[in-house]
Amino acid sequence: MTRRAVVVGVGHYLPERIVPNSEFEETLDTSDEWIRARSGIERRHFAAEGETTSDMGAAAARNALKDAGLNAEDIDAVIVATSTADLTFPSAATMIQSELGMTSGFAFDVQAVCAGFAYALANANALILSDQAKRVLVIGAETFSRIMDWTDRSTCVLFGDGAGALVLEAQEGAGTSDDRGILSTDLNSDGRYKDLLYVDGGVSTQSTGYLRMQGNQVFRHAVEKLAATAEKALEKAGLTSDDVDWIVPHQANIRIIQGTAKKMGLPMEKVVVTVQDHGNTSAASIPLALSVGKERGQIKPGDLIVTEAIGGGLAWGAVVLRW
Ligand code: UT7
Repeated sequence: MTRRAVVVGVGHYLPERIVPNSEFEETLDTSDEWIRARSGIERRHFAAEGETTSDMGAAAARNALKDAGLNAEDIDAVIVATSTADLTFPSAATMIQSELGMTSGFAFDVQAVCAGFAYALANANALILSDQAKRVLVIGAETFSRIMDWTDRSTCVLFGDGAGALVLEAQEGAGTSDDRGILSTDLNSDGRYKDLLYVDGGVSTQSTGYLRMQGNQVFRHAVEKLAATAEKALEKAGLTSDDVDWIVPHQANIRIIQGTAKKMGLPMEKVVVTVQDHGNTSAASIPLALSVGKERGQIKPGDLIVTEAIGGGLAWGAVVLRW
């Protein structure tokens, strides 16, 4: 028997306010047509004043727990992937732990920007496989609207707020790729590219800062690195693209999503796409897409899923799991 980290619950939360592309036309030299054509984004959600990353993460977590039929006290560990925690410390994860009423277990944040959810899943998998936790709540939650430079049309039209969560549980499998659960992970980063996507502020510079991105440079790296990490993760699981039921990609740009699928030889019918409705929600985009994909009836038990993401660092990675 082989231990596996199996998804037993999924949920998401999106803030109420929906902002269509046309709203940016009022203040910027941009258009709905440009944003749709270049990114595939049509609208995004923005958090309300006072609504924080931990509020949204806790809401998504409650929905995932409900889906799993579990209570907060059944959870051993909480991992939050975020670059936009409420405070410098404590972690968003401990804040969510408190919002959920948990008084036991342990909680921490993972910061790998848009690749954060892949990193968080890999951490959760490691905790489960090494018997340090039986059930792990893995959350991606972001309020990127707080780090937008609203005068920079090349970035502020691309991002959105939201949260998604999975409950992973230790279960015994046969040790084959037919098992449910996480089958493999592949993580990468290359700090030489740190200037392509970053926030020009932080604790030690005593400012919050704004997101800065050389979009076309990140784009160049994205398709190649995403297809490579997805294929490497599949190889580690003893699988190929032919075995994949769904790619659930980081939702940054429809052209990156299409390019990656094409490079992997997979049709768009096998890709869960939410970028049109959510924009780029950084570490929240994959769990949001998993939750929405399940709600839409796309993702079904037993499906083989590849998730992949890239972002600031550059940091990128992929996770292969059977739903
Ligand atoms: O999640 C983290 C990872 N991030 C990403 O994956 C994002 C990767 N990059 C992208 O998605 C794309 O590069 C963008 C959507 C950001 C931009 O698309 P692009 O096709 O790479 O355009 P570009 O940056 O090369 O800009 C083309 C033109 C420029 O004008 P000039 O210099 O050709 O005259 C920009 O100034 O489009 C202009 N532009 C805009 N025009 C209207 C940039 N932003 C806008 C805008 N509205 N909002």
